[in-house]
Amino acid sequence: MSGNDHQYKIESDKLQSCVREQLKFEFYRAYMSAAGVSPERLGTFQDNLRAPIHRWFKYPAGFSYRLVEALIDDKNLAPGNWLLDPFVGCGTTSVVAKEHGINSLGIEAHPFVWWVARVKCFWEYDMQSLQRSMLTLIRHLHQARLGEMETVDRYPALVHKCYSPVNLQRLDFIRDAISRLDCSDEERDFFLLALTDTLRTASKAGTGWPYIAPNKYHEKQERDAIEVFCHQVQMMYKDLSVVQERRQQYERVECRLLQMDARQPYPVESESMDLAITSPPYLNNYDYADRTRLEMYFLGWAQSWGDITDQVRDKLIIAATTQIRRSAFPDDPLSHELQELAPRIHAELSDKIRQLEKMRLHKGGKKSYDLMVAGYFNDMFQVLKQVYRVMKKGSEFVLVLGDSAPYGVYIPTEEYLGALGLAVGFGGYRIRELRERGGKWGHNPQRHKVMLKESLLTLVK
Ligand SMILES: C[S@@+](CC[C@H](N)C(=O)[O-])C[C@H]1O[C@@H](n2cnc3c(N)ncnc32)[C@H](O)[C@@H]1O
Repeated sequence: MSGNDHQYKIESDKLQSCVREQLKFEFYRAYMSAAGVSPERLGTFQDNLRAPIHRWFKYPAGFSYRLVEALIDDKNLAPGNWLLDPFVGCGTTSVVAKEHGINSLGIEAHPFVWWVARVKCFWEYDMQSLQRSMLTLIRHLHQARLGEMETVDRYPALVHKCYSPVNLQRLDFIRDAISRLDCSDEERDFFLLALTDTLRTASKAGTGWPYIAPNKYHEKQERDAIEVFCHQVQMMYKDLSVVQERRQQYERVECRLLQMDARQPYPVESESMDLAITSPPYLNNYDYADRTRLEMYFLGWAQSWGDITDQVRDKLIIAATTQIRRSAFPDDPLSHELQELAPRIHAELSDKIRQLEKMRLHKGGKKSYDLMVAGYFNDMFQVLKQVYRVMKKGSEFVLVLGDSAPYGVYIPTEEYLGALGLAVGFGGYRIRELRERGGKWGHNPQRHKVMLKESLLTLVK
């Protein structure tokens, strides 16, 4: 174990006891800051950027692995227990569960993100063979003579905008070398993931793209793609060596990752899960399909916005106006089931939806926030039902959530989802605030001035 890994373990031990306090007492902030860890980070990907395996792909929508560690510890989960994450993203929950010898079921509907989770959760490589393949690949890349390569022109325009022609040649050369390498399918996926993470590090387009379209203003220093890739792949190999040392611990662990819709029944028995942890999409108009456009374009999984809508956007729960087709909604956009089982929430939501419907007519973008809100709660209601079915009696479902204020109309997401949880059968819920958020947009005159937060909602069955 390297010096850094050791430090990582000690920090997480300290943190676990602190978060345990956090979950039991309202004054957790003092404990967290005494340990040098801020609860503000638990809902973010920041801690994962330096943690083995988690750092294989930078997913800004991810949460901290430390939250999962703390909850496993707090609930005394042991080998043989099952942990569910219905929005597993790039696999933070599954990686931590596997490290701790806990069985896990992760659900993810986004095909690319699901693939990332799968690669991160496969550790059963023949390390000698992997090392041989890696060294062959690196040697081949270092012999590359870029001047003699053909100019690359087969990618969608967005990809070309993110790189100089020579750096795109390098990326394309790596991709080609991986596809020709004589190695196992798992090894090829391992190298492809290293290349996928290289895409953003090597790019000259600044962070936030393609959400914020690449342009001069957002440009950063471009980095040699071959150097970045070789560094990344060696770092990933080192991480695997660390987890392989603990091989016995995870050898008999089940780590199931299903590419499916979290609103549909999960193929497991009722009352089989000991704990569920998740972070669903927030109701904040963030388009997950758009966020991974560069990766999907580069890998050749999609060529256009339309491809991404078919393969991704239409498969996710509604959380962005780009997913809305107004004609697909009836006059009362909230579901009858929600109205029947949760009449108070239905009434409150209907009132806010009507406000948003009127407001949009006077706004430049005429954003369909009204239907986005309705679609979000319809969808989350279905997810709560599915999770409820598979949880054991007395077990907990912990959600990291953000509230929202489209056009300034405040939506207390965690309170509404808590109440919807009761409507599907959960016995109780509690909410704890992790951090305030949204302050960084203060300079934007278009944006509302409502201060938002991120919270933990715990539903108890
Ligand atoms: C906030 S992210 C979760 C990130 C995760 N905690 C991690 O650390 O990687 C929410 C995830 O929900 C996924 N998602 C959205 N709609 C879904 C659906 N209907 N079924 C399953 N997953 C869905 C999105 O693709 C996204 O990856």
